Amino acid sequence: MWGRFTRGGATRRRPGRGRPSDALRESTYPPPYPDGWYMVAASADIKPGEAMYVECLGKQIALFRSESNGQVHAIDAFCPHMGANLAHGKVIDDQLRCPFHGWRINGFGQVCHIPTNDKLPARIHTHWEVMDYYGMVVLYHAEHRPDRVLYRLPEQSRIDSGKSVYRGRHNGGEVRMHIIEFAENAVDFQHFPEIHGVMHIPWTRITIPFIKIHHEASWERDANAAHLAYFRDQSVLEVLGRIIRKTGASAKITFYGAGGMVQFDFSIPNLGRITMFQTHTPIAPLKQQVHFWWFSDKRISRVLASYVVGNWVSQWRRDVEIWENKIYRKKPLLTKSDGPVHRMRRWYRQFYAK
Ligand code: FES
Ligand SMILES: [Fe+2]
Repeated sequence: MWGRFTRGGATRRRPGRGRPSDALRESTYPPPYPDGWYMVAASADIKPGEAMYVECLGKQIALFRSESNGQVHAIDAFCPHMGANLAHGKVIDDQLRCPFHGWRINGFGQVCHIPTNDKLPARIHTHWEVMDYYGMVVLYHAEHRPDRVLYRLPEQSRIDSGKSVYRGRHNGGEVRMHIIEFAENAVDFQHFPEIHGVMHIPWTRITIPFIKIHHEASWERDANAAHLAYFRDQSVLEVLGRIIRKTGASAKITFYGAGGMVQFDFSIPNLGRITMFQTHTPIAPLKQQVHFWWFSDKRISRVLASYVVGNWVSQWRRDVEIWENKIYRKKPLLTKSDGPVHRMRRWYRQFYAK
């Protein structure tokens, strides 16, 4: 089942009849790269002493991990000297050695060594704040507010204490959408019965007949922390026309910022909690690399955790088909049963604030 999604990615599917051009779509959206934390690699993919080239958020990044203390760093991939790709160089202690003339640059952008012993330039090379976050390497993008970090990602006490353990990850592929669509999803209450009213076999597009899902959604911003917003969904199944109360399930979805890192907490009655991170990394204005990364309380088996996450991923794919073909309406024609779209958009503006 896994291969079906990881190989194809989200874009390889029945294209529908005709697509609007990306140029047209892009002209309707807000800027593509709101400030915030974004996943740029899996921690396991960059070992001590290794470097990696990454392109996203309009940046070209050389990621590298120090040999001595294991800390990860992110600097502009192109050498300040003559522009060679530093990610193709060698890590020496906590510096990256350029493959062209052997200059060495550290994670703070300082040129630390030139083989000819020339005077070291004072100019600081572009670099970004980066860290490991529960198996993901995350980077702070500060295009609109270069003077400050708007928020930090929280510690996860259930994982830190060992109560909750790593259960799996899934590459959602590249999706041709703007990042704001994921936040819009949370306040678009009218789409739940239309798009998410049917049940799928987890991880597939196969619908299960005679079962309907009813949703009750809500959205609110945190009263104290400006960067936080919560989307809650209470769902219950209707089987052959009868509501089955004991199928009731609840999910709390926490937005840390504009959608780079979104945390899902699924509560399983009598068993505990599954925590899933869904990450969006803009690699172009209308292209998001999406990953899912999940943990569960030990009493919840790997299989059950995968079932729950797979349910969500199947539902998410239904949204993707809409997102990849839509524009952004600055003045949507809203009616009574729509959610707080304008409130969410006002909240979202802080990630573009000058
Ligand atoms: S281009 Fe990097 S040292 Fe010359
Ligand atoms: Fe949706």
